[in-house]
Amino acid sequence: MCGIVGYIGSKKATPILIDGLMSLEYRGYDSAGIATIEKDAIKVMKDKGRVKNLYNLDGIDKLSGTVGIAHTRWATHGKPSKENAHPHMDNSGKFVVVHNGIIENYADLRDFLISKGYTFLSETDTEVIPNLIHYYYTNGPVSVLKDESEKFLGAVKSAVYDLKGSYAIEAISTICPDEVIVVRKDSPLVIGKADGENYIASDIPAILKYTKEFYLLDDNEFAIIKSNNIRFFDNSLVEHNKAVKNIEWDANAAGKDGYEDYMLKEIFEQPTSIRETIGSRFRLGEKCSFDDIEISKEYLENVNRIFFVACGTAMHAGLVGKNLMEKLCHIPTEVDIASEFRYRNPIIDEHTLCIYISQSGETADTIAALKLAKSKGAKTLAISNVIGSSITREADYSIYTHAGPEIAVASTKAYTSQVVLVAILAMHFAEILGSSDKLEIESLKKDIIDLPSKIEQILDNTEPIKDFAKKIYTEKDMFFLGRGTDYSVALEGSLKLKEISYIHSEAYAAGELKHGPIALIENGVTVIGIVTDKNLVEKSISNIQEVITRGAKTLVITNQILPNNNFDYVINIPETNPLISPILSVVPMQLLSYYISKFKGLDVDKPRNLAKSVTVE
Ligand code: F6R
Repeated sequence: MCGIVGYIGSKKATPILIDGLMSLEYRGYDSAGIATIEKDAIKVMKDKGRVKNLYNLDGIDKLSGTVGIAHTRWATHGKPSKENAHPHMDNSGKFVVVHNGIIENYADLRDFLISKGYTFLSETDTEVIPNLIHYYYTNGPVSVLKDESEKFLGAVKSAVYDLKGSYAIEAISTICPDEVIVVRKDSPLVIGKADGENYIASDIPAILKYTKEFYLLDDNEFAIIKSNNIRFFDNSLVEHNKAVKNIEWDANAAGKDGYEDYMLKEIFEQPTSIRETIGSRFRLGEKCSFDDIEISKEYLENVNRIFFVACGTAMHAGLVGKNLMEKLCHIPTEVDIASEFRYRNPIIDEHTLCIYISQSGETADTIAALKLAKSKGAKTLAISNVIGSSITREADYSIYTHAGPEIAVASTKAYTSQVVLVAILAMHFAEILGSSDKLEIESLKKDIIDLPSKIEQILDNTEPIKDFAKKIYTEKDMFFLGRGTDYSVALEGSLKLKEISYIHSEAYAAGELKHGPIALIENGVTVIGIVTDKNLVEKSISNIQEVITRGAKTLVITNQILPNNNFDYVINIPETNPLISPILSVVPMQLLSYYISKFKGLDVDKPRNLAKSVTVE
């Protein structure tokens, strides 16, 4: 949700911090702030609104400190305001923190601190943290700690011990002006190691242009970061060594590359991202293989149920996965929303395989749902786009989409790569089990290989989609209809539209319409029908006819030759295996939402109220 940046070295920290926040703004953008250690004090500068507002703050250009922390906020406790923006300082002015996550017991901690004479300036949960650090610094077990640095660390540790919830925290202090202390639990934090300087961020892309060497902080792990050394400590403050990880992402991939928005760039990147997802996982005539996992025939034969668990768009990828697993592997498969799964006591045992899909790998509900399945003895497999993300560190097996950084809040290329990867996984399982006809799998492989060039064909002809968007962008309600896999992608099309155009929309299984929702269809309402499965063409078309009869305006996305042509618009897409057709049919819907949002003059990449990585419940 919120984004964190930090710097310690010999350069002026402010420009580096603001630059890092800019690239993290997709995480939260209702307020932003920085704190740097100046000669004898910590200077905090913050404001409501976008990161760029920081440049207008009086005196920000005078900051010369070379140690600093920064934050871009997505409000949870307290409205977006200057007072609630991070960083937050303790009452003495000695300790300053930024925090991602939620402190669930902050009200009790606040009462405790008030009883000790502390006062609060904000409505946030975060403000208890610097005051707790101060409390423990002044009341801590001074004698056993060697120096000020360890005393500061001891105070952070005691403060964190009191916190219930999730957090990634950066803390600085006038007492130790040459260091930053960090700690995390259920919220990501990485440290980028460079020559004579170190960087901190909640997401790798924010600091990728400075280094490719990263330490991925673990839950309940602390670090004292100085300009030329980093020390790691466990929960009991026992020091340990940590291996550095090389991240091979291309820094330019995190830029806009000449596109007007990240979302458009990411839509157009799909042919490339899908090629990356396929990678060397299969070739025609050869069996699928995964370097990263080893799953035996004996294990799979004992799996009697698969769950796909995820949120939002990633859950929609799971819906396509259900079809694939059931058709190719004949294993009953369910799809669950992570926030429901974690509280509904699902029936799981050692014969269940739970597959978790998460672009960011940091979604709080998905991580909790994974921990639940593990505790019940199921094997867990994570599908993520972010190497080393929390979910991949928790799961028994992890496989990566390799779609490259996805910055726009609305997910596009991550979805198509997730579906491709699930398809390859299903073929892999089917090959191990011998559960599908070899020729059928071979033909699916060919269809998957052809996907990038088929997406290129769709992207070569965006004008009709733009044209339709221009005609309907002022509308208030829309409907998406489909049957089978087309229904799962209708859900995704509808979600995309809501997210970035703020138009209310609903997706229905086409046959379900007449059981209620058809009452909403009246003259001029827009209905988008997806018709890609030749076995269901007639059924789907008759449902679309039912809405035309009631005055609806229709756009049909299809790869079939349709029997009648009384639709207002038809977008033709290339044909492919119905099991993977959402990978093609979603593209016009992504573009439609994008153009509608542009015509409405909205911020496509940063839709209101949303954040890229949902690290709170
Ligand atoms: C929609 C979107 C969200 C995410 C959801 C899960 O465009 O991006 O619905 O799919 O928040 O996020 P991850 O995949 O990071 O777990």
